[in-house]
Amino acid sequence: YSIYQTMQNPDPNRLPISYEDWEKEARKKLEDGPFYYIAGGAGGERTMDSNVSGFNRWQIIPRMLNNVDERDLSIELFGQTYPSPSMLAPIGVQSIIHEEGEIGSAKACAELGIPYTTSSASSVPMEKIAEAMGDAPRWFQLYWSRDPEITASFLKRADASGYSAIVVTLDTPMMAWREEDLKNVYLPFLIGEGLGNYFTDPAFLSKLEKSPKEDPQSAIMHWTQIFGNTGLTWDDISFLKEHTNLPILLKGILHPDDAKLALDYGVDGVIVSNHGGRQVDGAISAIDALPLVKDVVGDKIPVLMDSGIRRGSDIIKAMSLGASAVLVGRPAMYGLAVAGQQGVKEVMRNMLADLDITLGLIGKRTVKDLGPSVLKTAGDKV
Ligand code: FNR
Repeated sequence: YSIYQTMQNPDPNRLPISYEDWEKEARKKLEDGPFYYIAGGAGGERTMDSNVSGFNRWQIIPRMLNNVDERDLSIELFGQTYPSPSMLAPIGVQSIIHEEGEIGSAKACAELGIPYTTSSASSVPMEKIAEAMGDAPRWFQLYWSRDPEITASFLKRADASGYSAIVVTLDTPMMAWREEDLKNVYLPFLIGEGLGNYFTDPAFLSKLEKSPKEDPQSAIMHWTQIFGNTGLTWDDISFLKEHTNLPILLKGILHPDDAKLALDYGVDGVIVSNHGGRQVDGAISAIDALPLVKDVVGDKIPVLMDSGIRRGSDIIKAMSLGASAVLVGRPAMYGLAVAGQQGVKEVMRNMLADLDITLGLIGKRTVKDLGPSVLKTAGDKV
């Protein structure tokens, strides 16, 4: 709220404020390849668009005269208290977006106390990110490899370097049909340095004849073979549980029946997500899937969501529909593209300031007070 009280953008270089302006600035800075790596989605990008437009079907009904002098954005998840209900979504190969890459994003999160989710496909190894973050909260996102030794090794490394939860992304057993990436003949992952986590992994290295430095092409080829796993089934969840004691969240849950299976298989949380519309063009928008999943899960385990969060009011809507927290993807990456660590911090700080103000304006003191009574959809009786 202090942002408003000073009545000026605190940054002397006048960084953008709105999501749209950050995107515009990023477009000026980046070449086609890296820009569309962030901005693009699967196929005709219809799901990507409906992730954002889907929020418009839900409308907030503000309440008045409820003394909102003191407001509190904090939440509790897996026994930890976090200062706000938002965290950074896992994003791979950030070195192609800005030279500070993952280290810049992670440090911005550490400054704000926002959990940072390290992607399996990070440009730099998870240990380096952990080191840069000190004691700040961090989660690790697993791309569940076809090679079980690599999966086990990633889980072990995450535990050893102080990550406090494992986010298992289920919607990407292979890369999707992404027309922008294909047009730019741009496979971002195939940039030599972009695979820091794999290229330092003992299990991965043990499968190579020559080191990635000596023979990057073979290392990359090997990576393409082991990256995803289209053969997985629900029974394989037990493998993960055998190899980590950290809470396991399944990312990419959209169908209520999968939510039920997640409960049956005893995971610790689910993330309703369609990967920012980057996997299945035509998939249900995340905000529409959220109440379906929440109906099944109830309060048994936390339900988080991402895909389409752009502003404070989006967070309010997601939490009113039952999300315990949200993950932010593209907005933070435009911040990184424009101004590195400072840009990510500014984007996230602005979003939380917007959330704080909007929470007060709708007559709520804490995000814990949010629930279905805050919202209506067309046709609902208030
Ligand atoms: C992603 N996402 C992603 N997810 C994941 O589990 N591992 C990853 O490495 C990546 N990489 C990645 C790169 C880029 C450039 C984007 C935009 C997204 C998906 C991400 O975690 C999240 O689900 C979406 O970004 C959320 O949608 P919005 O907020 O970007 O619309």
